[in-house]
Amino acid sequence: MALINNETINEIRRSVDIVDIISGYLPLTQKGKNFFGVCPFHDDTNPSMSVSKEKQIYTCFSCGATGNVFRFVMDYENVSFLEAVKIVADHAGIDIQIDTRSSKKNVAHLQPLYDMYELSQKLYQNNINTSQGKEARTYLKQREIDDSIIKEFGIGLALHQRDVLTKLFLSKKYSHEDMVKSGLVLKNDYGYLDMYQDRIMFPLWDISGRIVGYSGRLYKTEGNFKYINTRETEIFKKGELLYNYHRAKDEARRLDTVLIMEGFMDVIRAYTIGVKNVVATMGTAVTKEHIILLKRMAKNILLVFDGDSAGAKATYACANELLKVGITPKIVRLEEDLDPDDYIKKYGKERFLRKINHPINVMDFKLSYLKEHRDLTSNEDLARYVQDVLQELSMIEDDVLLELTIKKMSEESSLDESFLRKKLEEIREKKEQKEQKNSQNLPTKEKKKEILNNKYTQAEKNLIYYMLKSPEVIKMYDRKMTYMPTESYRLLARDISYFYKQYHQINEADFITFIGNNQQKMDTLGEILSLPLKEEYTLDEIEDYIAAIRQYNVRYEQRRLKEEMKKITDPLEKAKIAQKIIELKVKGE
Ligand code: UTP
Ligand code: MN
Repeated sequence: MALINNETINEIRRSVDIVDIISGYLPLTQKGKNFFGVCPFHDDTNPSMSVSKEKQIYTCFSCGATGNVFRFVMDYENVSFLEAVKIVADHAGIDIQIDTRSSKKNVAHLQPLYDMYELSQKLYQNNINTSQGKEARTYLKQREIDDSIIKEFGIGLALHQRDVLTKLFLSKKYSHEDMVKSGLVLKNDYGYLDMYQDRIMFPLWDISGRIVGYSGRLYKTEGNFKYINTRETEIFKKGELLYNYHRAKDEARRLDTVLIMEGFMDVIRAYTIGVKNVVATMGTAVTKEHIILLKRMAKNILLVFDGDSAGAKATYACANELLKVGITPKIVRLEEDLDPDDYIKKYGKERFLRKINHPINVMDFKLSYLKEHRDLTSNEDLARYVQDVLQELSMIEDDVLLELTIKKMSEESSLDESFLRKKLEEIREKKEQKEQKNSQNLPTKEKKKEILNNKYTQAEKNLIYYMLKSPEVIKMYDRKMTYMPTESYRLLARDISYFYKQYHQINEADFITFIGNNQQKMDTLGEILSLPLKEEYTLDEIEDYIAAIRQYNVRYEQRRLKEEMKKITDPLEKAKIAQKIIELKVKGE
């Protein structure tokens, strides 16, 4: 791997503006000196990420994510540091040669697992092309999955054999432990055997496109467990990945729209008719992690779940999860209980495209969903329907949608609009009261923080904050500071001091590059950079911080000595320690 030195990396960083780069991923608006945007690293609803043009760093006030331009690209694109440097260099028009193949994010101990998946896929793909794969090929053909799709989606076949894959792994010197860890090999009383036998294998990829699991489908019979998924492993977390994310993300960003489906077969079908901005949740409820990924892909989210009542229920649940974080999805419902796969096969590309180009709004979907199985000519059903819709409306922030729905409901129920509005107001008030009550019972974040942040930790943090701004403060630290009591701050302060000795300058953005792959240090730095401190400092203030830390050390040592003294019986030894305590006292004042 070609190594590039820190000087080059810093030069690349200096030749771009972090504001430009981040704007390429998400909209930023300027407020005063800084720029603000919705943080892509947690399920943010308000713009809580601030980007500083001056410091060339970003900080999220809500989740604490922080870093320079490289860190942003690393975390957003889920790439290694060197890959991020390359992406940024491309922006700057700087041509650098970096071999990024073996530089995936700190996964050294997981590498065997990834390698085993690569290897297994070769075996499975080979199997499907052998004579033993004939029946599987026929099955796929009958489902209108041709060779080019088989190739594109890496579909393979696990043969009806108990341990071919296990033996292959053994021949390549993988340990039994790693084999079991991968989820591809099982251990039972008789030994080790392949997890998958006699199934068509659909690889599942993580967000950077590495195979991390499979869904294996029955094909000779229809039965229970038609799909078996890899169990959760260190590299496969079903709730954290969306099927097809790595293939769909560019197209989704281009169109600013992403379609979500339930099954991966639906995604594959949509892909074959050229709809490529599509992912699947694979039957699970939408998770926080899914939402973060979806938000990175596009602003417009379209739910295209199965047409049956289970699909309607899933749509309803998923829409609510999205609404909670301020996303208003659009909905597509397919007729005749069809899933997208069957729908496209039955009605063809054009009709499906028409469908997704004319989605319904989420409130209309909810109205019809809440109407299902209800007879609105019965007053009882009607009353319950109106109550349900009002509940729904109390979650909605979109005024126009709200007005339209109230009008519609008034017509349907022949209740006055003003009456409906009053009822809605009542529900909202009740909700607010409940929320207030909940928040009173819990100590606020602020309160908790206060308890933790006593005087000396505050002094440690403040000192580091200003060390990052000025060589003068670093020099004071070097001269006067003996020991920072809190380990995380101590390590960071030492690094700053070291960085300055090495480069004869200090700035936040380059320092981040320097500690970049140490997550713990990054977290600590993030905490410090988001402190609400003023930019200017006086030397007196710095002296005060140093004094506070020293005083703490002295007191700590005194306490330790007193404890020691209690244990000692020899009067002479006791006197020695007492003397030490007195000396410390003098020193501390
Ligand atoms: P579906 O049952 O809707 O899948 O489940 P499908 O696409 O119609 O399957 P085919 O057409 O019969 O082959 C949706 C998703 O739920 C997960 C799978 O990820 C599937 O894509 N699932 C379903 C399982 O994990 N296990 C199962 O037994 C069934
Ligand atoms: Mn199906």
